[in-house]
Amino acid sequence: MIDISNNNSTKQEVQGNLLSPLPVVLVGAQVNNKPNYLVIGYMCPFNFGKHIFFSLYNVRYTRKGIHDNMTFSVNIPSENLIEQTQLCGTKSGRDIDKSAIFDTFYGELKTAPMISQCPINIECEVTEILDYTPNEGIIGRVVKSYADTQYLTEGKLDWRKVHPILWATGGDYNYYKLGDRIIQDNG
Ligand SMILES: Cc1cc2nc3c(=O)[nH]c(=O)nc-3n(C[C@H](O)[C@H](O)[C@H](O)COP(=O)(O)O)c2cc1C
Repeated sequence: MIDISNNNSTKQEVQGNLLSPLPVVLVGAQVNNKPNYLVIGYMCPFNFGKHIFFSLYNVRYTRKGIHDNMTFSVNIPSENLIEQTQLCGTKSGRDIDKSAIFDTFYGELKTAPMISQCPINIECEVTEILDYTPNEGIIGRVVKSYADTQYLTEGKLDWRKVHPILWATGGDYNYYKLGDRIIQDNG
C-alpha cells in the first residue's frame, strides 16, 4: 500500500471539480409564456439514462419556468453555436429576452422549449427537486430524445459530426473540442 502522507509521494491535493470536461448544455424552460435558455456545465445522466440530474442556482430566471411547468429541455450545442451559448450562460432572461436567440420547437410535453439549431434535444419532466440552498438539484425523467438526421451515421448518433463544446473545470475554466476516437469499435 502507498502512503500518500509520505513526502516522497507524487500525489498532491487539487482543488475544484475534477469530474470534467463535460459537454455544455442549454437547458430550456417556458418562463412567462416565452422560451428561456441557460447554460448548465454539469449535466449528469443516471438510472441507465432514463433520468438526468443538474444543479440550479436558485436565483436563475429559468427556475420559474421549471417550477411552473415541471418540465424542461436539454439541448446540446455544436461549436458553431459558441457565441449564442456564451450569451445564454452570461445574461439572465430577467434582463434580456433570450427567446429569439434560437428557433424553438416543442415535443410531446408542449412546455419544454427545444432549440432547432442544436443537434441533440431531450425533453424531460421534473420528478424531484432537492433543496440544497442556495442550489436546487433538479431531477428529470427523459420523455423523448431527438437528433437531426445529419448527425447520424447508419442510423446511430455520430459524435464526430456533432462537435460538442466541452467545458473543463478543475484546471483552467475553458471550452475544449472533442478529440479523436481511440478505439475503433462499432459496438
Ligand atoms: C459554462 C457554464 C456553466 C454553468 N453552469 C451552471 C449550473 O450548473 N447551474 C446554474 O445554476 N448556472 C450555471 N451557469 C450560469 C447560468 O447559465 C447563467 O447565470 C445564466 O445567465 C442564467 O440565465 P437565466 O437567469 O436566464 O436562467 C453556467 C454558466 C456557464 C457559462
